[in-house]
Amino acid sequence: MKTVIFIFLSCWSISLFASEEALVELTPSEESALSDIGKKASDLVSQRLMDTMLADIKSVGLAGAAHGWSKSVNIINDIADSFELGMVIRRPTYQYRNPVNKPDKTDQIALDYFLSDESEDSRYFTRKIMANNGNRYLYYQPMYVTQKCLLCHSDKMSKDVKTVIEEKYPDDRSGNLQLGALRAVIRVELPESAIESR
Ligand code: HEC
Repeated sequence: MKTVIFIFLSCWSISLFASEEALVELTPSEESALSDIGKKASDLVSQRLMDTMLADIKSVGLAGAAHGWSKSVNIINDIADSFELGMVIRRPTYQYRNPVNKPDKTDQIALDYFLSDESEDSRYFTRKIMANNGNRYLYYQPMYVTQKCLLCHSDKMSKDVKTVIEEKYPDDRSGNLQLGALRAVIRVELPESAIESR
């Protein structure tokens, strides 16, 4: 009986260990290398999305722009690929419209940080994930709600925009945002090799 319990317990702890990930803070040199690339990528994402959104609104109108905006994910993926570092970019948020942006555990730590007083003037949040399947670096940059966003993310939405959103995103959580609130974080993920080689 004792042996059975022992085997059970060791299998259990091995499987626990196998799925375990440790989250650690960065050394100053890691921090400097990561924040450099992370800022570049995040700023590019903000700029490219804004330019594309404004051009779309001009050419196909607000409802048309909203309808075609699932392309934002492709725009972000293309920016990540252009760095040729194995980069992955996402936009996690508690108020997700597209379920691919549902935050994981680490994203929640970053979001909670920017929602708290602790972040005050911080422009970014970083962590390293130590995991059996490869160590990774995470850079997070906050994104806030501006006037323009309310056109598609608040009760100020026009009727035709509302129709598009209800049809395409029945479980939308971003339909009632407030000006100045935290909208999301831009998450830039890099494999360890991308930072170590710097
Ligand atoms: C023309 C309508 C429109 C405008 C204006 C707009 N958005 Fe969105 N937004 C959308 C749609 C539609 C999606 C879902 C896209 C998808 O399918 O991935 C979305 C998704 C997002 C996401 C991804 C997270 C999620 O909820 O899935 C973020 C972040 C975001 N918007 C931020 C903003 C910000 C910040 C602004 C203002 C600068 C803004 N949006 C303005 C329509 C709009």
